[in-house]
Amino acid sequence: MKIIIAIDGFSSCGKSTLAKELAEQLHYTFIDTGAMYRAITLYLIRENVSLKNVEEINEALKNIHLHFETHPETGKSEIYLNDENVSRHIRDMIVADKVSEVAAIKEVRTFAVAQQQKMGKRKGLVMDGRDIGTVVFPDAELKIFMTADPEIRVKRRFQEMYAINPDITLDEVRHNLELRDYIDSNREESPLRRADDARLLDNSEMTREAQLKLALQWVAEAKVAN
Ligand code: DC
Repeated sequence: MKIIIAIDGFSSCGKSTLAKELAEQLHYTFIDTGAMYRAITLYLIRENVSLKNVEEINEALKNIHLHFETHPETGKSEIYLNDENVSRHIRDMIVADKVSEVAAIKEVRTFAVAQQQKMGKRKGLVMDGRDIGTVVFPDAELKIFMTADPEIRVKRRFQEMYAINPDITLDEVRHNLELRDYIDSNREESPLRRADDARLLDNSEMTREAQLKLALQWVAEAKVAN
């Protein structure tokens, strides 16, 4: 039996890492919904779309086609914006600075959620984001809400960003993360919150292996319960 696994939580909690490993173990599809919001943001920046103008946004959304492909050599899931592989560009600071604002726009969320729900039609899916267990798949068989100590998250994100941009400072990363946490948790449309039936996973002091083991145990339990 295949199920849907919804993973939500704050930025840089290791959601994607766990989601990817789970998908690999279970031979499920992995979808990073943050990458979708980032790719939309990249498009809006490139096209100079005003984030205050709903009409312009709606027009832009009509021209956005997103899809994921697995890289044949690395096995990594890569995102394509209108057939261009933008997996690296979406990690730029210019996108990180704007993405929370874009993800708070109702029209953008409706657009992204519809695509995400379509991807779940076939089950066998691990999806990570902020509203997967609450909005996208409220009936997901397994929901995990991830959290970690804020300073640990800042260091994790710094390491990730530093590999791409060695000029970045710890303070810049901290500021960006705090701001995104605030916007993600306080926006009107689908704010980040733990679903009542989500399992809590605080991984501040956990190894990747320990997290995976625990999550696989939850998967087994979810299959029995469903
Ligand atoms: O997971 P991430 O850092 O790549 O997410 C980028 C932004 O997109 C983040 O500010 C929250 C937002 N997001 C969202 O609102 N809903 C989702 N399902 C996924 C991400």
